[in-house]
Amino acid sequence: MCGIVGYAGRREAQPILLDCLKRLEYRGYDSAGIAVAGKGLQLFKSKGEIAVLESKMPRMPGTVGIAHTRWATQGKPTTENAHPLDDCSHRLAIVHNGIISNFMGLKESLVKDGHRFASETDTEVFAHLVESELKGDLVDAVSKALRQVEGTYAFAVVAADRSEIVATRRESPLVVGLGEGENFLASDVTALLKYTNRVVYIQDDEVVRVTMDSVSIRGPSGELVEREAQKITWSLEDAEKGGYPHFMLKEIFEQPDAIHDSLLGRIETLETEPFFQGDSFTSVKVVACGTSYHAGLVGKYIIEELAKIPTTVQISSEYRYSPVARESPLVVLITQSGETADTLGAAREARKRGNKTVGIANVVGSAITREVDHVIYTRAGPEIGVAATKTFATQLAALYLLAMDLGVQNRVLTAQAKRSITGSLRNLPRAVQDVLNQAHLIEALANKYSGAKDMFFIGRGINYPVALEGALKTKEISYVHGEGFPAGELKHGPLALISKESPVVAIAVKDHTYERMLGNISECSARGSPVIAVAFEGDTEIAKYVDDTIRVREIPPIFAPVPIIVVLQLWAYYLAKAKGCPIDKPRNIAKTVTVE
Ligand code: F6R
Repeated sequence: MCGIVGYAGRREAQPILLDCLKRLEYRGYDSAGIAVAGKGLQLFKSKGEIAVLESKMPRMPGTVGIAHTRWATQGKPTTENAHPLDDCSHRLAIVHNGIISNFMGLKESLVKDGHRFASETDTEVFAHLVESELKGDLVDAVSKALRQVEGTYAFAVVAADRSEIVATRRESPLVVGLGEGENFLASDVTALLKYTNRVVYIQDDEVVRVTMDSVSIRGPSGELVEREAQKITWSLEDAEKGGYPHFMLKEIFEQPDAIHDSLLGRIETLETEPFFQGDSFTSVKVVACGTSYHAGLVGKYIIEELAKIPTTVQISSEYRYSPVARESPLVVLITQSGETADTLGAAREARKRGNKTVGIANVVGSAITREVDHVIYTRAGPEIGVAATKTFATQLAALYLLAMDLGVQNRVLTAQAKRSITGSLRNLPRAVQDVLNQAHLIEALANKYSGAKDMFFIGRGINYPVALEGALKTKEISYVHGEGFPAGELKHGPLALISKESPVVAIAVKDHTYERMLGNISECSARGSPVIAVAFEGDTEIAKYVDDTIRVREIPPIFAPVPIIVVLQLWAYYLAKAKGCPIDKPRNIAKTVTVE
């Protein structure tokens, strides 16, 4: 959802800004732009991806600058609306991630005061507000302008003839990278890994001044803030493609290691270092968006089965505005980025309602970690592909651990049950590796069905949300219309859509729903629909009912969602590849959704 970067140092800013910006392209690719300050102000921007900007822009000498890649919210994706945006005098340039909700009123009064607007964006009002307030110190001007804006934002501002960047945030991510004789700013640490691994996270309503040899942070009342730098353990290699054609494929193939790292050490220490010492809960609510919401839906089955605690799951944007009546004392917020605006809002709301909150997040130091009582990191490493893959699998790993802990606290798990669960968890990376070893087979099947415009995904019980996630991956990156259904619901309406033109992917593992699932598969094949089953190895019956079968290792059904989702991720990936889609950058989507 827009990426911003900044550089102040001794080197030429332009190539460094561009390099950092490319690593943020997953956040939006409607337009891009760059401004270099110092001697005067040079600004260049263009509609389209960063590569378009790069191919057109002139050399812009100077050692201080800011840059932006946009995911359009307010104002069409045009060159005029691209960032940086400047003021009437063309001496200030601003990049913004977020939304200024009161921009209409501000724009009206700025226009009355004689300001001339060149774009349709909300962001431009901030350029003119800073212009009006700028009497000398840029930090003062930005602070005064901030008092007038409402909404969510990370802003970075440069001004002609000044070798400083002033930046601030509210509910949108902003991190400062510390170098030797140079300092950086970015929406996400992955943009900075090539240059530094020492970072300082800026917090809501702080204003930071960055120059080549200093970083000074002011709190909301103007007080000086001292904050220790954090060391990031992710390497640059983690954030690069490493020979894979797409980040998504690389991240799918990283899953055995990611799951292993996610579980590492925790299975052993859960007994001595539980997540909830002495707490027991009568109910749990899981709150999340998108893929993380699907992980939450799987989590409901896991928590109810392992901990015997009734669990409900709600989409963050719905939870925030729902009545408080049926609350749960434990609210689990799942967000890989840790920056999703709706989930952050939900976390605040959950705390306000007096609940205990746990965040399941991938990005260390992200905003969610400041909004919850306890954080479980998924340790998946950076995920750059817009479609979430390894973060989903590791969210499930975290949910197994959480459920086990809740089960222990609730005294419903016997020592033997615990041993058996931990044994299964340790085997998960191998079950995933088995799926990856069959990538060529999944590719061949995806090619076979790549002409379909509609595709249905069905499952029962714990595999129903896995079907939803398979459908989401498919529509998101291959643009095939994918719909997920609980298999038992087909006859209540969706069967009307089923035809020989619409393949059905059926998750049919041998659990207590298997026989019913075979019935639902027959309902589809009777209407001419080709059926592709995802089934356990050794299931000899399934082939009689379906056209094609993809096999996963037979494991206890509660753990089956992990290898099965890997099948569906590969399915979506190869469909998208067959159709020539821009896999890592699907249209209209951004990875981190920092607007509500
Ligand atoms: C889909 C996808 C999104 C995210 C959603 C929540 O592949 O990635 O649906 O899952 O935007 O993001 P996080 O988990 O960062 O809160």
